[in-house]
Amino acid sequence: MSCRTAKFSYTLSILSYISTVLLCISSTPAFAQTYKPNVKSGSLSAFMDGKAMYVLGGTSGSSQSYSYSAQVFMIDLSIPWNVSSPAYKSLPDAPVGFFQMASALSPDGQTWFAQNGNAAFFYDFESSKWNTIPSTTTGNKTLNSNFGLGAATDPDTGIIYVPNGLVSNGGQYMLKVNPDESIDSAEMSPQMSKTPSSTVAWSAAQRSLIYVDESTGDTFSYSPAKGWNQLAVSGTIPPPRSNACFVGAYGGSKMVLFGGYNATLQTSINTIHILDMSSLTWTSGPTFSSKSGRMGAACAASGDYFIAWGGQSSTSDVDLGASNATLVYDMKNITWTFSYIAPPLPSPSKSKTRAIAISCAVLGTVILMLIAGYIYYRIRSKKPKVIDYLHPPPVAEYYDKSASSIIASVRGREEFEFRRPGVQYYPANPPTYSMTIATPGYRYS
Ligand SMILES: *[C@@H]1O[C@H](CO)[C@@H](O)[C@H](O)[C@H]1NC(C)=O
Ligand SMILES: *[C@@H]1O[C@H](CO)[C@@H](O)[C@H](O)[C@H]1NC(C)=O
Ligand SMILES: *[C@@H]1O[C@H](CO)[C@@H](O)[C@H](O)[C@H]1NC(C)=O
Ligand SMILES: *[C@@H]1O[C@H](CO)[C@@H](O)[C@H](O)[C@H]1NC(C)=O
Ligand SMILES: *[C@@H]1O[C@H](CO)[C@@H](O)[C@H](O)[C@H]1NC(C)=O
Repeated sequence: MSCRTAKFSYTLSILSYISTVLLCISSTPAFAQTYKPNVKSGSLSAFMDGKAMYVLGGTSGSSQSYSYSAQVFMIDLSIPWNVSSPAYKSLPDAPVGFFQMASALSPDGQTWFAQNGNAAFFYDFESSKWNTIPSTTTGNKTLNSNFGLGAATDPDTGIIYVPNGLVSNGGQYMLKVNPDESIDSAEMSPQMSKTPSSTVAWSAAQRSLIYVDESTGDTFSYSPAKGWNQLAVSGTIPPPRSNACFVGAYGGSKMVLFGGYNATLQTSINTIHILDMSSLTWTSGPTFSSKSGRMGAACAASGDYFIAWGGQSSTSDVDLGASNATLVYDMKNITWTFSYIAPPLPSPSKSKTRAIAISCAVLGTVILMLIAGYIYYRIRSKKPKVIDYLHPPPVAEYYDKSASSIIASVRGREEFEFRRPGVQYYPANPPTYSMTIATPGYRYS
């Protein structure tokens, strides 16, 4: 390698280091604070504690206007934000509109199951693609296309459960969606009413699905091992409702029920209730300031916070406006608040950021070591003697006319670098001894 190529390669190394660092900086998540989703009611939602809340579809304002949206977005739960500007991020639109149906994430959060009428889909976050699940019938059971279904994922098996998700001749069954996207059926409890319910969430702490029958207020659990059981709950038991939110918090050791619709008063509900799974006791939190409550909201629990987005504030057309569509409840402080604070424990998103930072640091160090090693090598290695062509040794006859410089090892002992000046030069006397040329591909005789 000539000195010129060495300088060039050194510059290239520095440039590659700088570009690697820039690439690493640009690959850390950045949120376009300018994006604001259209406020919807009856959206499908799913979340990962400390990571993200995903929201799909819904309708605008009026319950009479059944134009289902295909809007998809997320709220970042790994960073802090205020209700006036949640950390929104737009995601590609769904192929069809969705409204008030079952939705759940795979345990790794890489795929999102969502049901719409008689069809069911999987969204793959990596490829940003929606795929229709191959078959939505099992035996003579078909998907229940009624509104208000909910879904929950068993993190141990990856099976997604949709209570009342299958129907056959008036009978209702639980839909089981396997990780391979095939479907199965399981029985519902004979003790429960036949109304579909969106009040379903998984309690990892209990290794069970928790189901609140909205029409009666009864609470049930389902586990693959023990089947259905009615829970002997106590405390301030939430009165019956519809279109409520129900999510698991603190790894499912507490379950949160919020809002919904009061059919007697024909208004949306503004109360929040927490079921402690170890004592099976319901407690009620303070109502949030708006008199008008929320029904059909998208919900999540992350760290000490419960989050509700969108929904309707009453039965009449209400445009919530994106700025006040989000509600945050502090479960530790037992108060509605304006700020969401991400949980301190390393979340999957944070550890990913950390992994990127670590690999950047490792890559940077490796590149720096390579540069240092190369410089050391250059210093240590014998520098070729530079010979002006105007006074060349006899071997210059073998000089490649197209190359700007070559290194030749004369008699395998000494290295020479031949530099070509502007003018072509051929020596008068050919060499009389053998030699090797360091430039690969260069032929000599
Ligand atoms: C939230 O609002 C408070 C008060 O206006 C402000 O100090 C804080 O920086 C905001 N936080 C974020 C994450 O925007
Ligand atoms: C489902 O189909 C089978 C025959 O394939 C029949 O025996 C059974 O009664 C059907 N079940 C219902 C609930 O319709
Ligand atoms: C609905 O309103 C009725 C009448 O005020 C009340 O008794 C009932 O508790 C309310 N239900 C809910 C869920 O708030
Ligand atoms: C949302 O904001 C608008 C305008 O600031 C206000 O009129 C409306 O009442 C708010 N809605 C809620 C639910 O806070
Ligand atoms: C908890 O609530 C009290 C009063 O309700 C308030 O002063 C305090 O700042 C709150 N703490 C947090 C962390 O929000």
